[in-house]
Amino acid sequence: MTSLTTSPSELRIGSRELKTRFFLAPLAGYTHWPLRLALREVGGVGLATTDLILAPQLLAGNRKSTELLQTSPDDRPLSVQIFGGKPEELVRAAQYVESLEFGGIDINMGCPMGKINSSGGGARLMRNCDHATRLAELVVEAVQIPVTVKMRLGWDADDFSAPLLASRFEQVGIAAVTVHGRTRQQGFHGQVNLEGIRKVVEAVNSMPIIGNGDVRTVDDASRMIKQTGCAAIAIGRGAMLDPWLFRKLDQHFRGETVCEPAPDEKLAFLHRHFDLMAEIHDVYACILFRKFAAWYGAQLGIPEDLEDDLRKLESFSHFEELFLNIEQRQGERQTTIPTALIKVPNGPNAHW
Ligand SMILES: Cc1cc2nc3c(=O)[nH]c(=O)nc-3n(C[C@H](O)[C@H](O)[C@H](O)COP(=O)(O)O)c2cc1C
Repeated sequence: MTSLTTSPSELRIGSRELKTRFFLAPLAGYTHWPLRLALREVGGVGLATTDLILAPQLLAGNRKSTELLQTSPDDRPLSVQIFGGKPEELVRAAQYVESLEFGGIDINMGCPMGKINSSGGGARLMRNCDHATRLAELVVEAVQIPVTVKMRLGWDADDFSAPLLASRFEQVGIAAVTVHGRTRQQGFHGQVNLEGIRKVVEAVNSMPIIGNGDVRTVDDASRMIKQTGCAAIAIGRGAMLDPWLFRKLDQHFRGETVCEPAPDEKLAFLHRHFDLMAEIHDVYACILFRKFAAWYGAQLGIPEDLEDDLRKLESFSHFEELFLNIEQRQGERQTTIPTALIKVPNGPNAHW
């Protein structure tokens, strides 16, 4: 068992050497190239993954799927996450990803959304262990680059399949498995089940298990590592709430002093994120940036009237004017950062 408690730094996943054990979990609609790069520049990110991309759409050259592959040489190491229920489509999508020189493929077996599950992909794959294993095996055999899987603990409390699946995946050559410590039925409700992740860790020999779910602070990460023995941690919403978390974790686990970002660094991050968005979306970046307003408002202590302005961002000159105002009035508002600013699907998940 390779655990973060025994070796705090590099981790090998297949042929890949990762510099830290703190990974950015995919958040569809948020963790695109601009945010990934801005986070990498802060430091501490060991691996990032694209949003989930439906295999047949990727193969058809669908515009949205192609956009999700947008990257640059400094956005590495990066895995491309694919999903789908048909083995031949997943295999061809994986080969296509490899031909574009990406360094890893991640198969999504965790997404709880109805539209993903109705394609036979996402968490539904966890319901049929033989099919999921065969599918994973076919993808592993089809490419040279490491193939990983991201999944949940199971479909529901009665169908807790992650330990068995992880051990079967290890046997067919999957390089690592990320486990979100909730079942599909739980959606995003309830507490992350660390004991459940531990069972997955105990079910495998040496394949790294990456723990995931609700890590927002260094203490949360320490608790997950201690209670599960996982080899690495994937952080999604926590990265939005604290873009410096990866760097802090790396510093903490190397025994170095953990540095909080200075106010100027926080502001620089906001500007850099916007500039990177503008690089690929031009002025449409103003519209896309609006959904980050609440997060920056809380993280940077932006006064509410300016946060509202950020939510109505219209042009580059508007951004620059607003940025100057934010700079001048930074810290005016005292915020306690809410636990989750990112909307998650709600209500009975049969309706998602
Ligand atoms: C808005 C949103 C989008 C997500 N998109 C993906 C995705 O594309 N692929 C995936 O495997 N998981 C996705 N997830 C799940 C996250 O990667 C992660 O497993 C989950 O949010 C729990 O981790 P966290 O508490 O660190 O966010 C998404 C979650 C949210 C809230």
